[in-house]
Amino acid sequence: MGVSAHAFSGANPDTAQSLAAFVADDVTKALLDEIAAAHWPESVIELGGKDAAASHLRSAPVPHLLLVDLGDSDDPYADLMTLADSCDPATNVVALGKINDLTLYKRFVAAGVADYLVKPVSAEDLESAMFAASLPRTNAAEHVVDTQAEIFVVVGSRGGVGASLVAANGAWIMSQEMGRRVALVDLDVQFGTAALSLDLVPTGGMIEALQNPSRLDSLFMASAMVPKSENLAVLAAEEELGRDPSYAPEALSRMLAEVRRSFDCVWVDMPRGTFGQVGPVLSQAKRVIVVSDLSLAGMRDTIRLKGFCRDYAALTDVSVVLNRMDRSRQAAMTVSQFERGAELKVMTQLPEDDKAASAATATGKSLPEVAKRCKLVAGMRQIVTEVAGEDTKQRGKARKVRKAGKGKLAALRGRGK
Ligand SMILES: Nc1ncnc2c1ncn2[C@@H]1O[C@H](COP(=O)(O)OP(=O)(O)O)[C@@H](O)[C@H]1O
Ligand SMILES: [Mg+2]
Repeated sequence: MGVSAHAFSGANPDTAQSLAAFVADDVTKALLDEIAAAHWPESVIELGGKDAAASHLRSAPVPHLLLVDLGDSDDPYADLMTLADSCDPATNVVALGKINDLTLYKRFVAAGVADYLVKPVSAEDLESAMFAASLPRTNAAEHVVDTQAEIFVVVGSRGGVGASLVAANGAWIMSQEMGRRVALVDLDVQFGTAALSLDLVPTGGMIEALQNPSRLDSLFMASAMVPKSENLAVLAAEEELGRDPSYAPEALSRMLAEVRRSFDCVWVDMPRGTFGQVGPVLSQAKRVIVVSDLSLAGMRDTIRLKGFCRDYAALTDVSVVLNRMDRSRQAAMTVSQFERGAELKVMTQLPEDDKAASAATATGKSLPEVAKRCKLVAGMRQIVTEVAGEDTKQRGKARKVRKAGKGKLAALRGRGK
């Protein structure tokens, strides 16, 4: 089969995967033909569902990615398990079916199936499930969680509340004071300040790669990330204002997957406007940190951001940081009113500190470099300790949570149909 213009680069062995898909109806087959033509040059797409899959697996090499449509099956779980016996442990399996049932979903996921989608599926859902499954071993949840960098997403409930300050300084503290290898990714590709705040100049190319994910390989990532120190690098852009900055969420998933290979943690400075577009990425995050001021509007939008996380990343932790507290003193609201309204406990309150913030901005340095001992830095350290603090004991828990999270996500997806 020929390599299409959009096929993932052969330079990247993890994405140059073989795909075998066995579908049960023409509509799903048409979708798969299209997706495979764009992304999986090495693919076998056949009608015939589980029976075709079984006979293929008897006679051909086991594919990296196996998609089976169980739409014609009376006992999808038993049928898939029979097929699994002929698979390699390294095979990533995506199942499709007609039965919309959370218990079935959980059984699949517990058995190591990367995803189960309820038909009819949209091209987008199918493509993103296949992308996610083909990323480094999603069916081996233990492997993924133990070796992949943790993602922390920082988003502001309002503009100017200090989300970028929290992201940049969180990344800096984690890298310099905890010795972790940290990537700071600024998704505000036109107006972002992450690079600027650390006195760096973006190399360019980030938006091209997001819009054309075939460029996303480790070579690209190495050239696009600007190093700040041995342990900290920044991925950012100052994209032209005339350019359409939109991209597919799957491309962002792929980009983050590449970034995660080389770092222990990824801090994502996410503009509010992007948040609603990237549900699948949020579900990969360990934690979403919502930065807000103490105001009614801040509370309302914190509730909305939290609600979106609950729907699309059901088990990703959501924490709220209240920033610029001294400024908020005149606010017509108390912290406990905010907490009651938002139905969550505020993780940290950060004071307003104009002196430290402007010294950092003026010099392109982090807050700890210009004001080591101020309360704002102490608060930032508390945030970093809190989000990084889970030890290996917690990791086992995180693993279970992640598995269950995928289940919920897919169930929600299926229910939306
Ligand atoms: N706690 C604080 N004290 C003083 N200035 C702050 C504080 N937090 C943020 N700032 C300043 O407010 C401005 C907006 O912060 P920024 O992090 O860019 O907000 P956002 O990313 O939420 O839009 C920046 O100039 C920043 O230095
Ligand atoms: Mg910002």
